[in-house]
Amino acid sequence: MKILAIESSCDETAAAVVEDGRKILSSNIASQIPQHVIYGGVVPEIASRQHTKAITAVVRGALDEAGCKLSDLDAIAVTHAPGLIGALLVGVNFAKGLSFASGKPLIPVHHLRSHIAANYLTYSDLKPPFLCLVVSGGHSHIVEVADYTKFRIIGQTRDDAAGETLDKAARAMGLPYPGGVHLDTASVGGNENAYTFPKPKVSDSEYDFSFSGMKTNIINLLHKMNQKGESYEIKDMAASFQSAVTERLVENLEKAALDFGYTKIALSGGVSANSALRAKTEKMCQEHGFELYKPQLSLCGDNAAMVGAQAYYEYLAGSVADLDLNATASMKIE
Ligand code: KG4
Ligand code: ZN
Repeated sequence: MKILAIESSCDETAAAVVEDGRKILSSNIASQIPQHVIYGGVVPEIASRQHTKAITAVVRGALDEAGCKLSDLDAIAVTHAPGLIGALLVGVNFAKGLSFASGKPLIPVHHLRSHIAANYLTYSDLKPPFLCLVVSGGHSHIVEVADYTKFRIIGQTRDDAAGETLDKAARAMGLPYPGGVHLDTASVGGNENAYTFPKPKVSDSEYDFSFSGMKTNIINLLHKMNQKGESYEIKDMAASFQSAVTERLVENLEKAALDFGYTKIALSGGVSANSALRAKTEKMCQEHGFELYKPQLSLCGDNAAMVGAQAYYEYLAGSVADLDLNATASMKIE
């Protein structure tokens, strides 16, 4: 089954053709970094306009690369939630137009479900059930993937997401957007024990996260150092902060895996590209003899191939939308 998938939930306009949920026939991504970098973050209005400008060429490129015409496809899939509403609407309406014109079924895909599915493209033998840490710019979840379309949130952030926290810390250090990526690069060769950041307390749940205190902590630390005219090694600061944030993520993931009896562990989302997170998770999994699945780096950030992968399983589960499908800014993965 060949699915054309479209992704426009944030600042990447992407289209891909994926066969049977596992084989990428094409994957085309137009990044909007140049449009947002001068503002130091994503400007939603600019993102929507940029998607509108780019989407036709991106979809055409994906079809050409896969050697497909619309008539060769079996379905059209699109990210419909969660994300920036104006940005999502561009992809949703484009997909509806294609579905209407071709008569092919329309498959709505949840953005975080598709991040998890990036692992199916990297590991052809991976099947649920497994436990997945989903860490992106807007979400930090520990998710039980009971089946391809059956999910349960075990832990989540009470405030800021890990990606947002890393982005804001990077910005406070004067690094450009997208901060998390630059922070990771800046941390190379740095001493992760140079600075310590207090461990946030989260009451009532052993698996939930809280990152807003850590964000405030580093911003205040840098501010005070600036005021006193003190300098710091950016690589040490970057390595220390990244290490502290990722330690919190891996600690809870470990606890959840042990408590719920999972031995198959996966990472997903933009932050799963982070070198410290990958290294700490690898170490933790080795210690317990867990199997670890990490998406290949090109599939960690937003892309449409992962949407095509998840769409296949959504279709098999009977999830097909009418042409009145709408975009939704926030929606639980369950
Ligand atoms: O999943 P994603 O591409 O978009 C959302 O759905 O939000 O995640 C974007 C997030 C941003 O916060 C970005 O800074 C972060 O992922 N990110 C990283 C790395 N690559 C992307 N954070 C830390 N280290 C990286 N290597
Ligand atoms: Zn994402």
